[in-house]
Amino acid sequence: MIDLHCHILPGIDDGPAEMTSSVEMARAALKEGITHIVATPHVKSTIFPAGMVSQKISDLQNELNNHHIPITILPGGEIFYLYHESPDVLKQFSINQTPYVLIEFPHSHLPKISETVVFNILLLGFIPIIAHPERNPSVIIQPDLISQIIDKGALIQMTAGSITGYFGREVQACSEYLIRKNRVHIMASDAHSPEARPVSFSQAFQKTKKLIGESAANRLFIENPSAILKGERVHVLA
Ligand SMILES: [Fe+2]
Repeated sequence: MIDLHCHILPGIDDGPAEMTSSVEMARAALKEGITHIVATPHVKSTIFPAGMVSQKISDLQNELNNHHIPITILPGGEIFYLYHESPDVLKQFSINQTPYVLIEFPHSHLPKISETVVFNILLLGFIPIIAHPERNPSVIIQPDLISQIIDKGALIQMTAGSITGYFGREVQACSEYLIRKNRVHIMASDAHSPEARPVSFSQAFQKTKKLIGESAANRLFIENPSAILKGERVHVLA
């Protein structure tokens, strides 16, 4: 499986401070059947200099190779929505140098300009993937809000822990609703450390399978993430 959203790089954001924790996270991911991890450091107040993320990826990859952990680390970023008019930032932190970009909205609410953000990103030639809206209070209160941004052309990434209850009953109920309504396109871990938001792919997969069946669950966990890594089109159900 592929994890498209993971804060695995050491000493760059609120992910692990040390390389040893990054290796531990990769070990846990391997146990869950993950073969590829996109490193998605927060791109918010700081724009990391070109080369910094790729150096950290290369250091981590070497470390994983030394520990015989067969996981490939790929470049990406979790880009704050205010960069929706910044093609250079979107390009620098796109997922595996494809047109796909992972976009973070504020955690407190869905901004009024959400649809404009999606529109502008598409206009610049990128495809926005909205990170974990099921944890956003606006969406918890009114889950159908995300239909509007999907209709504008955004994809939705859900955090695996949301469906397993890691973030509480409200987030879990919202997640179940969105999955059943085909409003989710990708599952990812959004792991930050070996302890915080542990990778729970297998548990989340079983839960998703119960809700929508195995082939639809495969789409969220395997087929869509794989298409994104290759820059191919993602199949969106109405
Ligand atoms: Fe994240």
